[in-house]
Amino acid sequence: MKLTILGGGGFRVPLVYGALLTDRGEGRVTEVVLHDLDAGRLSAVARVLAEQAAGVPGAPVVTATTDLDEALRGARFVFSAIRVGGLAGRAEDERVALAEGVLGQETVGAGGIAYGLRTVPVAVDIARRVARLAPDAWVINFTNPAGLVTEAMSRHLGDRVIGICDSPVGLGRRIARVLGAKDPSEAWIDYVGLNHLGWVRGLRIAGRDELPRLLADPALLGSFEEGKLFGADWLRSLGAVPNEYLHYYYFNREAVRAYQQAEKTRGAFLCDQQAHFYEAVAEPGARALDVWDRTRAEREATYMAENRETAGAGERDADDLSGGYEKVALALMRAIARDERTTLILNVRNRGTLSALDGEAVIEVPCLVDANGAHPVAVDPLPGHATGLVCAVKAVEREVLAAAESGSRATAVKAFALHPLVDSVNVARRLVEGYTEVHPGLAYLG
Ligand code: G6P
Ligand code: MN
Repeated sequence: MKLTILGGGGFRVPLVYGALLTDRGEGRVTEVVLHDLDAGRLSAVARVLAEQAAGVPGAPVVTATTDLDEALRGARFVFSAIRVGGLAGRAEDERVALAEGVLGQETVGAGGIAYGLRTVPVAVDIARRVARLAPDAWVINFTNPAGLVTEAMSRHLGDRVIGICDSPVGLGRRIARVLGAKDPSEAWIDYVGLNHLGWVRGLRIAGRDELPRLLADPALLGSFEEGKLFGADWLRSLGAVPNEYLHYYYFNREAVRAYQQAEKTRGAFLCDQQAHFYEAVAEPGARALDVWDRTRAEREATYMAENRETAGAGERDADDLSGGYEKVALALMRAIARDERTTLILNVRNRGTLSALDGEAVIEVPCLVDANGAHPVAVDPLPGHATGLVCAVKAVEREVLAAAESGSRATAVKAFALHPLVDSVNVARRLVEGYTEVHPGLAYLG
């Protein structure tokens, strides 16, 4: 079974390959094709994978190519994990927005819009090629902003593209652990929204909703990341636990200020760190896996710490970090490839789940997964304030998709201006000016 990884020269690819190496089951992946535009990054990551595979019997065979069509032909699964504009682009997304006094985060607010505008055309091109060259393949989209990018691809691939994120399951696991669940993975997480914009409204352990017990207990609320981040009072007012990314909405001023005061933004930090990684791996005699492992540990230690420290949230523990994207992706791929029924929180088309959105809108929701794909389960409606945010942000996403399709600069301005975290149409205009100046990937906006 052939798995193609787009963005195959990316730093997180060894996490995916490491997860594949633990899979000994029937129908597992036997062949991995890495695709990337950058041959140097590809060969660096291929070296790490070769060292990971050493001595593992039956390790999936790895090949690498810079030819996209060749990579796609015959693939059963495609993991799309690209970063258009690279980490330097992410740093620019942050910088341009912060200069205007608004949030430049990777996926939220102005930064997320800029990233979406340059990613959607590339993702659409990939989707078209998959539809032509590997029409039976399942595409698992890792690429951020994941909900928006999945929706762009779904216009060409229907329900054969599924978007993933590690944050909802991570949040559910942290809550379940605080509530004393013996096996946090057994908890039913009542979560819904858009990617990076969802709420846990209930958490059932052995059939009983234990969330009210958490919300009533200040000590429990103070003992995990989101509890510290949002504060017990606010969580009690909401009656739900929001995804950590909602911090950027509920505490926007503080978040922008923390970003502005940071010595380096997250994107700038990672940009330097990764550049160093690829240089170090290329050095003669370097043990690629050791270099990778050191860099990963360093990255995890700083995970989101910069912008969250001020809000009192601590770093994550190792367990949180090991249950990330690769596990969700592998669980999803296994469920489809082997018809192993399971429930996962995924980004799929709404199909009537949230009545405030149309059927084509990609949302993030628990899904039953089997050989026929991911089917969203029925969930309770969101309260008005949450529906309001979800609809506002989905409207922005639709403007991004329209701008990417038409190349209209006015539509791009509209996307920024309509975002709840952009506070003036003039700011939106200057953001489009600023971003088109620094991003070659936005040249299509006239
Ligand atoms: C979480 C989110 C991802 C995001 C990542 C950023 O895992 O779910 O969507 O890409 O954080 O992490 P980074 O180390 O790149 O700042
Ligand atoms: Mn995510």
